[in-house]
Amino acid sequence: MAYNLLKGKKGIIFGALNDQSIAWKVAEKAVEEGAQIVLTNTEVACRMGTIDELAKKTNATIIPADATSVADLENLFVKAQEALGGKIDFVLHSCAMSVNMRKKRTYDDLDYGFLDKTLDISAISFHKMIQVAKKLDAIADYGSILALTYVASHRTFFGYNDMADAKALLESIARSFGYIYGREKNVRVNTISQSPTPTTAGGGIKGFDGMLDYADRMSPLGNASADECADYCVVMFSDLTRKVTMQTLFHDGGFSSMGMSLRGMTQYEKSFVEENKDENGKIIYG
Ligand SMILES: NC(=O)c1ccc[n+]([C@@H]2O[C@H](COP(=O)([O-])OP(=O)(O)OC[C@H]3O[C@@H](n4cnc5c(N)ncnc54)[C@H](O)[C@@H]3O)[C@@H](O)[C@H]2O)c1
Repeated sequence: MAYNLLKGKKGIIFGALNDQSIAWKVAEKAVEEGAQIVLTNTEVACRMGTIDELAKKTNATIIPADATSVADLENLFVKAQEALGGKIDFVLHSCAMSVNMRKKRTYDDLDYGFLDKTLDISAISFHKMIQVAKKLDAIADYGSILALTYVASHRTFFGYNDMADAKALLESIARSFGYIYGREKNVRVNTISQSPTPTTAGGGIKGFDGMLDYADRMSPLGNASADECADYCVVMFSDLTRKVTMQTLFHDGGFSSMGMSLRGMTQYEKSFVEENKDENGKIIYG
């Protein structure tokens, strides 16, 4: 059921790759709620993914941009305002990638060139897009900028690797820019910390299925789905949340406040093993 929460609003949505992407669901929901949108992703993702299908469904223009390129972002914000006929009311940053994870480099054996890429794509791109938008004065007063994050920014999760550092930086950028943009233009900047969600990026995390099951057992409301995340994003883009800024907003069924649940404990007691080993037979302690 739609509530017209975004009637007349204009938005840019980064990161819809396929119909599993969280950004895909956000695009669908935003349009259902009355918004007009521009979709963006890298040239390669636009070619390899199924974003065309989403664009048709949502009557959206696609403007490719590498979120790490200031020139691409400038072009995007200029063209998006032309396509939408005015300033932008909301932006979703839904981009992440770790080459270290892809190449199975562990956190104590990071390649620093890859680390630079992880931080640039997954965190600094958020700074770049806000800075570009601000310099072009492309965001309307009381606009809303959101990025998606994960609780590994606060607490350590096996397998989340250098992405944990990227998410910590991403959340910090939301606070630092939230102050400046709020003060000057009433623009709010927040991150939503989402439950593990089965997507292309999620599937790249070591032990993802275990993490998904663990989080679900630990959360009194269960894991939040991509569709539910899209609902929350819509509320954050709407005028109902005009005084919420600089926050990491947990959308995780209660996971982040839990220590141990009955469902978690029951499973834990079933699964005592002598030791944990990696693929090479090396024992991992703890
Ligand atoms: N899936 C999860 O479990 C989960 C949980 C919490 C937060 N998140 C976050 O949600 C966001 C969306 O991820 P998803 O799970 O929907 O996966 P996804 O793979 O569908 O989306 C990731 C997107 O990032 C884009 N991207 C990569 N490099 C880019 C670049 N240089 N410029 C522009 N875009 C680029 C990809 O093309 C892709 O569309 C990410 O920030 C992710 O960390 C995901």
